[in-house]
Amino acid sequence: MKKSVLSIDYSFALKDLNRFGMGISHRDLKAGLTMGARKNKELFLERVSGSAGFYSLPYFEKETRKISRFAASLRRRFDTFVVLGIGGSALGTSAVMGALPESAGRKGGRVLVLDNVDPDAFEKAFATLDLERTVFNVISKSGSTSETLSQFFVVTGLLKRKVGERWKEHIIVTTDPEKGLLRGLAGEYGFLSFPVPPSVGGRFSVLSPVGLLPLAFAGVNVGSLLEGARYMDGINLGTEKEANPVVVLAAIYAHYMEEERKNTFVLFAYSDFFIKLSDWFCQLWGESLGKERKEGGRIDSIGQTPVGVIGVTAQHSQLQLYMDGPDDKVYTFIGPGKFNRDYSIKPLKRDESVLFLSGKKMADLFRAEMDATIYSLASKGRPVVVIEPHARNEFAIGALIFLFECVTALTGKLLGVNPFDQPGVEYGKKLTRAMLGDKMSMKFLEDIEEFRKVRGRCEISLEAN
Ligand code: PA5
Repeated sequence: MKKSVLSIDYSFALKDLNRFGMGISHRDLKAGLTMGARKNKELFLERVSGSAGFYSLPYFEKETRKISRFAASLRRRFDTFVVLGIGGSALGTSAVMGALPESAGRKGGRVLVLDNVDPDAFEKAFATLDLERTVFNVISKSGSTSETLSQFFVVTGLLKRKVGERWKEHIIVTTDPEKGLLRGLAGEYGFLSFPVPPSVGGRFSVLSPVGLLPLAFAGVNVGSLLEGARYMDGINLGTEKEANPVVVLAAIYAHYMEEERKNTFVLFAYSDFFIKLSDWFCQLWGESLGKERKEGGRIDSIGQTPVGVIGVTAQHSQLQLYMDGPDDKVYTFIGPGKFNRDYSIKPLKRDESVLFLSGKKMADLFRAEMDATIYSLASKGRPVVVIEPHARNEFAIGALIFLFECVTALTGKLLGVNPFDQPGVEYGKKLTRAMLGDKMSMKFLEDIEEFRKVRGRCEISLEAN
């Protein structure tokens, strides 16, 4: 029997179906699909060589089974698994754990993701940890990110003090298989370690050991997560362009970005469980597509500011802007799928104003609210895509994640940018290192000096007695 996985409805993004005749025309979509199918083929070639290694991750089944077994053995020794990492090294784990909460039946160990260097937050997290029963997974693709290394060095100090000689047994390293400081440290100190394939970038790495190990510890069925991703890969590889959601969505999004300069991508996710998924997506979309292109000697900046909001809550905070504010956005809804439980609504009093709620379930209200918001935006001619995973399980979430990754990569190719690099982020990393005195980053001090001269020239400083 066939199981339904996801549906993608882009009716409200099309000009032909738009009440004001706005949006992408049938002809432009057709051209976009042809170009998308061609670029998709080019990406397929980058699977093995180049930087599109994420496509291969769903096929590491043997390694994934090993990871699951290893996580089970860790759970026997440790109660808590702490991820030390930032950006792509942390967000994917939080996204999947959030989407598959324990309340939905997942049973496993406690996983904490520490993805910042806010000392107060660190202290708050550590107050809840029994270090004897805690394992730390330090995750960094490059092995050189200052935030992650600093977290790591703070933790090693704490561990040495608390658990003594056996501190090394509390550390697992996930990093490049050969390069980087962290890989060197893993060799030197004999830490247990996992590789991040060199051709997989941080924000595309959730289905590698970066995400799989913490997720397996948390009790997520990572085999099924990969199965969902393989399913989506099969669709992308084997489906005609008009029926291929990757090609269709990339063609639509690239059109709105390129031709209509809709500079904001609103991800309207209808479930509290998608808060972290939305953070993960925002990084993927923003960092992969926000790029400079050189065209005929001049620089053209492209990309969309991703904004993640949660329905229905954001209907009462953001929707007014989306309805009547500037028409510079595209909207993608993520439907909630099937709820695991529901509540009947019984009004306290038979009052005409609440009779419509009588006998309804909370899920009825939720869905009506989502549909009403979609139709509200459509009433203004705003472009809307609706993606709905049909279940809240590993298979569906794996398929959804892989869909987003493939769409992001292909949209990047359609825009003529490299979706796999992040020069802007790297620049910031180097300035930080230079400011803290890193000799290898000294050439960035000139930039810092220039900005320091400007900083504070126009400043209002408030004081109180
Ligand atoms: O997507 C990316 O490449 C970045 O967000 C990185 O994940 C982030 O900067 C952390 O880098 P690293 O994993 O090398 O520590």
